[in-house]
Amino acid sequence: MSLPRANDKPLFTPGPLTTSRTVKTAMLRDLGSRDTEFIDLVRDVRRRLLDIAGVSQEKGYEAVPMQGSGTFSLEAVVSSCIQPGKKLLVIINGAYGERLAKMAQIHGIDTVVLRYKECDLPDLSEVRSTLEADPGIAMVSVCHCETTSGIMNPIHEIGQIVAELGRQYFVDSMSAFGAAPFDFEGAHIDYLVSSSNKCIEGVPGFAFVICKRESLAATEGWSRTMSLDVHAQWKGLESNGQFRFTPPTHAFLAFHQALVELELEGGAEERGSRYRANYECLIEGMGKLGFEEYVARELQGYIITSFRYPAHDWFDFDRFYDALNDRGFVIYPGKVSDADCFRIGNIGRLFTSDVASLLGAIRDVLSSMNPDREEHISTSVTR
Ligand SMILES: Cc1ncc(COP(=O)(O)O)c(C=O)c1O
Repeated sequence: MSLPRANDKPLFTPGPLTTSRTVKTAMLRDLGSRDTEFIDLVRDVRRRLLDIAGVSQEKGYEAVPMQGSGTFSLEAVVSSCIQPGKKLLVIINGAYGERLAKMAQIHGIDTVVLRYKECDLPDLSEVRSTLEADPGIAMVSVCHCETTSGIMNPIHEIGQIVAELGRQYFVDSMSAFGAAPFDFEGAHIDYLVSSSNKCIEGVPGFAFVICKRESLAATEGWSRTMSLDVHAQWKGLESNGQFRFTPPTHAFLAFHQALVELELEGGAEERGSRYRANYECLIEGMGKLGFEEYVARELQGYIITSFRYPAHDWFDFDRFYDALNDRGFVIYPGKVSDADCFRIGNIGRLFTSDVASLLGAIRDVLSSMNPDREEHISTSVTR
């Protein structure tokens, strides 16, 4: 199938990502927020989001778009979907988990934290025993792909425990939704958040909450803010199809086109296969150059990969980054706290041919940085 390609510098980042030309050109219109065409578009977007999750309104689920980046929707769930006086358990193995706990603390929500190393998975028995010991915990949150490192958390297994113990389950699937298919119902998810500019390959501007209607319906009046109230946003959309406040109309036009292109590609399964192919091409090529991944192979996903800095005095990340940028490739700095790493994203409108070009550029840059002009860097790379 011939898919639209982008002509811009490829973004090997966690987002915003490379988007297709057709997604970008879909924005070249001005639609009024109360225009029936826009209202129909929003309705179709909401339906398609449920479709991707494998659920529907008939099955008791809702998709609620919220203005702002992904963090705003995460904060909307934290600040409006936890009953006042109840606690949140945050499972943390990276910066996004830390951020979620911080949000809860800012809103005065009593927060219990289970913290793990950024290259380790959560301990499921500890999740269970923590919930058993504390009936005040109403909700459990975890990142799906912790984009800090690229590790994939066992959201299904955690969901089983959370449901068994009768608590609510909140998954931050910002960087995975749309390309990492999973059984939404089987994972017992009450709330999932992702954004317009990740694996669905739209442009930044809004995020969305996919949730069980029964859970959301119970939250009326719980919100600690006015604008981040998921229940009020949902009720507004249900009553007249409109957003309560100015919607990102252009980002919605782009997102609708992105959803059509996702369907054309074959849905989340096929998109995941393309990203996986990018990832496999990347780790094979980076391995040949001598780079080592931060997360063990069996724990990392195919969304984004953290590579340790080479253990050579001549390696300087800023110079490496700039030289790649000059050659037309954008990579990303690292975010883990216990190792010097950089990250390369495999998501967005990118193909293995783009990854192969990036690998060629990395080889050239390394040999220009390395005074001995060796192509293969040292493999014992931690420093
Ligand atoms: C897992 C995860 N959570 C939250 C965020 C924050 O999203 P945003 O930067 O759109 O606010 C990101 C961004 O990459 C992410 O990957």
